[in-house]
Amino acid sequence: MKLWHHGKGHDYHHENVIKNEGGLWGPRAIAVASGKGGVGKTSITVNLAICLAKMGNRVTIFDADLGLANAEVLFGITPPYSLFEVLYGGMTLDEIAAQGPCGIRVISGGSGFLEMANLDHSHRRQLLRMFNQFVNKDEIVLIDTSAGINKNVLGFVAAAGEVIIVVTPEPTSLTDAYALIKILANFKLHTEVNVVVNRAADSKEAMRTLERISTAAGRFLEIKVNYLGWVPDDKSVSQAVKIQQPYYITNRNSPASRGITRIAELLVGNARLTPQEGFWSKLMGLFS
Ligand SMILES: Nc1ncnc2c1ncn2[C@@H]1O[C@H](COP(=O)(O)OP(=O)(O)OP(=O)(O)O)[C@@H](O)[C@H]1O
Ligand SMILES: [Mg+2]
Repeated sequence: MKLWHHGKGHDYHHENVIKNEGGLWGPRAIAVASGKGGVGKTSITVNLAICLAKMGNRVTIFDADLGLANAEVLFGITPPYSLFEVLYGGMTLDEIAAQGPCGIRVISGGSGFLEMANLDHSHRRQLLRMFNQFVNKDEIVLIDTSAGINKNVLGFVAAAGEVIIVVTPEPTSLTDAYALIKILANFKLHTEVNVVVNRAADSKEAMRTLERISTAAGRFLEIKVNYLGWVPDDKSVSQAVKIQQPYYITNRNSPASRGITRIAELLVGNARLTPQEGFWSKLMGLFS
């Protein structure tokens, strides 16, 4: 852990920077996934991004939903370009990035991710260089994935250094979340996952939900299940959705917003414990 010290006391700029196992610094890439659709992945990604940005972190959202562009809908902004234009239209990541609130940048993957498989070696290297220049080393990249457990979702989840699994107390959500965790464990894609319980009635219900997953995982899987927190079922969430504003902006003191704050604090507190590998190079490797 010597790298944290630079002779001039503590370097706070690097608080959130993670040392990768090969000795390189990299951004924290955190994939948000669920198995079941509609449980609140996008909503948690967007509001967590705002909270983290307000805490002083640089944040980029990668909308990896290859179908519908979700994050944009919740921000009320629609980036006109996606990664596709970077690959084939000669645009840079800076040019396709949309500006969200609090300095958050939103990159829309669109069908561009699927195209990465068709790139030749020199184009891949060029794209990798672009990614590395675009994302700051002290940045947090939140990757909002789509519903279902398919090759694309697993690709993003595997490439990210950390995973947040969003689950609701509904049995179908629990079953699908467990199925996703089981794949991550059995294919050794991750050694630990972080669970967020969304739409719980209270902290007890959230805890019961978490315990169902962690008990089953503890018994049958080789993976550590961390509890990252819970967000209550809150009517201010749907009110905010209707006006295409994140609830963390419209009502910072709502029960849902307070849940997000607790999660963000824990996430930032955990920062140095997680070893990271290069997200972009891993991702490109997976899509090749
Ligand atoms: N904590 C909450 N309280 C009340 N309603 C919520 C909460 N979280 C999410 N919702 C509602 O659930 C809906 C679906 O949320 P969201 O779009 O974030 O899910 P998703 O997992 O991203 O869905 P998809 O799998 O389709 O991408 C939202 O429109 C919102 O109204
Ligand atoms: Mg979504």
